[in-house]
Amino acid sequence: MEIRKENTGYLDIHSHILPGVDDGAKNLKETREMLQIMYEQGVRNIITTPHSYPNQPKKSSEKLRNLVLQIEEEAKSISEDFQIFTGNEILYRESIPEEIEKGTILTLADTQYLLVEFLPEEHYTRIFHGIKRIVEYGYCPIIAHMERVEALYENVDRIQEIIGCGAYLQVNTGSMPGGMFHKKTNYLCKLIGKGYIHFLGSDCHNTTTRPPRMEETVKRIRKKVPKEALEKILYKNPKKLLNKQYI
Ligand SMILES: [Fe+2]
Repeated sequence: MEIRKENTGYLDIHSHILPGVDDGAKNLKETREMLQIMYEQGVRNIITTPHSYPNQPKKSSEKLRNLVLQIEEEAKSISEDFQIFTGNEILYRESIPEEIEKGTILTLADTQYLLVEFLPEEHYTRIFHGIKRIVEYGYCPIIAHMERVEALYENVDRIQEIIGCGAYLQVNTGSMPGGMFHKKTNYLCKLIGKGYIHFLGSDCHNTTTRPPRMEETVKRIRKKVPKEALEKILYKNPKKLLNKQYI
């Protein structure tokens, strides 16, 4: 799936919109509703990232590719410039590179980028060595919702170190819900301003409790983040990812 034309909308690199495959959209009806909300929120490119757990059979990634083709038709019925890509949110395990080679794990939009999930209580040494190993195999790991990873979240030295090892960091739009005095939102905006966050993702699961949010979060953080830093996470980095370039 190549980018067919330039569009200026947002890229959501983290979503659970495929019907009935994980704890995301229950059925095609909910998928359609989520797509509609995402389009209205200014999203024009979506990478579908159903959860990937160890020892998945190869047929599951083939099934995902077929589902994405089906969903892309739904997206096209909303608008011609709406594009859907394959991917996985990969629960960290040592065998990730080998599983990619076997074709049982999907990289983001068939690029060298991976969305990797660490458990909130994961030890930093395992994160550090895991990231190094993935990078050694030539992949670009993006740590999903870094704000949930306790060993990283408030430790700027570790954030710098892990980025230095080749990691990229993603934050969920739903983790920045607050106004002027919201501590977590302000802290994450500070990290974005310093260039430590590379991507936003909605991590949407449904239309109710975890709906797709993009534009409403962008509006909220626009005042708190330098323009250049916002441009990077909203447009420049996503464009590089889809074009298989390094950030
Ligand atoms: Fe997720």
